[in-house]
Amino acid sequence: MKVFFSCLIFLSALTAYGQNRIGTGAVEKLYQQNCMSCHGPALGGGLGGSLLDKSAWEEVGQTVSFLEYVREGNADTGMPSFKDALSNKEIRSLEIYIDEMIQKADREETPVVQKTGTVYEAGGYRFEVETMIEGLDTPWSVYFLSPRHALIAEKPGDLRIWQEGRLSPPIRGTPKVLAKGQGGLLEVAAHPNYEENGWIYLGFSAAPEAAQDPDSYMTKVVRGRLDGDRWVDEEVIFEVPESFHSPRGVHFGTRFVFQDGYLFFSIGDRGVQNEAQELSSPNGKIHRIHDDGRIPRDNPFADKKGAYKSIWTYGNRNPQGMDAHPVTGAIYSTEHGPRGGDETNLIEKGLNYGWPVITHGMNYSGTPITDKTAAPGMEQPLLHWTPSIAVCGIDFYEGDVFPDWKHDLFVGGLASQELHRLQIDGDEVTAHEIILKGEGRVRDVASGPDGYLYLVLNRPDKIVRLVPAP
Ligand code: HEC
Repeated sequence: MKVFFSCLIFLSALTAYGQNRIGTGAVEKLYQQNCMSCHGPALGGGLGGSLLDKSAWEEVGQTVSFLEYVREGNADTGMPSFKDALSNKEIRSLEIYIDEMIQKADREETPVVQKTGTVYEAGGYRFEVETMIEGLDTPWSVYFLSPRHALIAEKPGDLRIWQEGRLSPPIRGTPKVLAKGQGGLLEVAAHPNYEENGWIYLGFSAAPEAAQDPDSYMTKVVRGRLDGDRWVDEEVIFEVPESFHSPRGVHFGTRFVFQDGYLFFSIGDRGVQNEAQELSSPNGKIHRIHDDGRIPRDNPFADKKGAYKSIWTYGNRNPQGMDAHPVTGAIYSTEHGPRGGDETNLIEKGLNYGWPVITHGMNYSGTPITDKTAAPGMEQPLLHWTPSIAVCGIDFYEGDVFPDWKHDLFVGGLASQELHRLQIDGDEVTAHEIILKGEGRVRDVASGPDGYLYLVLNRPDKIVRLVPAP
């Protein structure tokens, strides 16, 4: 596909918080050394045209890719060839850099969301943000048992219950969580038949039982029940051998989807990119197990020698959002890209989502990862964000308070502090807009049983809901 400035451009004053890598690092130097003399320090043009002007590129880009264009140059217009000076990877990183700078320039001009006082106007509604639960320490996940009754996972390791406006002290006897780096208590959900069986599932990072190295840790899943303020009947549902634990503090994934007696959950690449492509490793994968922890015999790699049997999909960098469509049951995920290349994916049995062989992003430092954004046998995201918004928790809205939003996918952003609304039709995102911005890092999204849309925020730590403005 010959679309260069492939990112979706949003208009807003950039709140620099967290997205402050935009336009910096090795790629900025690369731009300054090779392109700035003609295209200007802020890409606004000089001897060469403005690189911020998408419409100019759209004409050229019909016939030739950015990579080819910059490699070959254009003798007629005076754009030099960079085929001897720059690698394909470097040229690709410049393309991402230009995407970043376009967004930055746009956002300096126009705000991303319409907000007057406390009232947002977006998605066809006027709404406000109402604080529901405060006094939390780094909440990572919320699960509603009923409109006024929710389970809350706090990253440092505590499970708390919110009931009728009261927040419980930490539940006693919950499993030992190793909370450091990006690890901690990351997910909580009740079994779909909770009313009958009382099972609550927790996803977290932990050191192995008989830890040789107590600093090594890994994603683990257990279930248990509540007896008053105590956690009881614990069973380990998923745990990897000690050899797969590592002291690296990143990319634990850990989101749950229950469906037809199965539990789907994610594990990120744990900081070793290539492991996402290795079927012998649990890292960089979405897994499927029975809700009691057994491995389904029809898993895609169950019969493959040396493969990790619970793997459902692979090539997933760090999926921190997952939900099933309320009508079709199709499973969607969001996955953190590196710098650029955040993704929304449709998760299907046995497929390879490409990380790190293909990606729409580059390294945080601005050095390139690859020039490949597509390859045979590797899935394309339904939507990708460059610059990254730091995609996190997602949920399909199922309530009636905002009828036009029914069955739309809501996606939270951490660094961007945004909530995005995606209208989805099968493997297509038919519309996409930003609904809210600047309220905090959006860690998780939940369609509440009371019909409202709930957000778990970090900094400030609280749970809020969107309510129609009077
Ligand atoms: C010696 C001056 C010069 C240098 C250095 C240069 N360019 Fe150009 N570039 C041009 C000219 C002239 C054009 C054609 C006129 C225009 O910009 O539309 C052009 C066109 C382009 C276009 C097409 C854009 C459009 O809107 O038509 C892109 C993309 C581009 N350059 C990227 C780069 C990149 C990336 C670098 C650095 C690796 C670079 N250029 C370095 C002079 C230069």
